[in-house]
Amino acid sequence: MSPDGCSGARASAPQLPEEWLIRDRADAVVCSQKSARFAEAAGLSHRSAKQVAIAVSELVTNVIKYAGSGKLVLRRLPGDRAGIEVVVEDQGPGIQDPSAAMEDGFSAGHPSVVELPPSLRTGLGIGLGAVVRLMDSVLIENLPGAGVRVTATKHCAVARSRIASP
Ligand SMILES: Nc1ncnc2c1ncn2[C@@H]1O[C@H](COP(=O)(O)OP(=O)(O)OP(=O)(O)O)[C@@H](O)[C@H]1O
Ligand SMILES: [Mg+2]
Repeated sequence: MSPDGCSGARASAPQLPEEWLIRDRADAVVCSQKSARFAEAAGLSHRSAKQVAIAVSELVTNVIKYAGSGKLVLRRLPGDRAGIEVVVEDQGPGIQDPSAAMEDGFSAGHPSVVELPPSLRTGLGIGLGAVVRLMDSVLIENLPGAGVRVTATKHCAVARSRIASP
């Protein structure tokens, strides 16, 4: 166990933040793989790292779909809340109602109860809901100029206590 609470030999090694520009759909795969590697290097379990990878893939796909381009930043979190922070940011149109967008079935500004022709649907509307379920915390902010910033964390200690609980 490293001093910051993450387990594994690599968790005690220094780890610099990583950044990646999001420009096309291929970046969803690249960002997803980078995030999983970063999470495991920070000491998260293999399972948690895979959950981070899926969450990042959803967020990066949203950037491509709704904003065109953006960036991913990965940071190690030290101390009691050891783990990683994922920031996915763009300069697109923003999200009108971030809380509603996190609800399952809410897509392109429409709840699933509203019938839309397939040509107007952008997805199932479960991407952000999945991110909320997979990560330990998720904050969606509209940026003052333009765009969206999603900040999500996954912690080592939470993963450990989940495993430890009866
Ligand atoms: N980066 C973003 N910029 C602008 N709007 C966004 C962004 N990310 C999400 N949204 C809005 O939030 C809605 C919900 O996003 P979510 O990822 O949950 O569903 P989806 O992309 O529509 O479908 P799915 O992810 O299930 O394929 C989107 O339909 C879109 O209107
Ligand atoms: Mg989506």
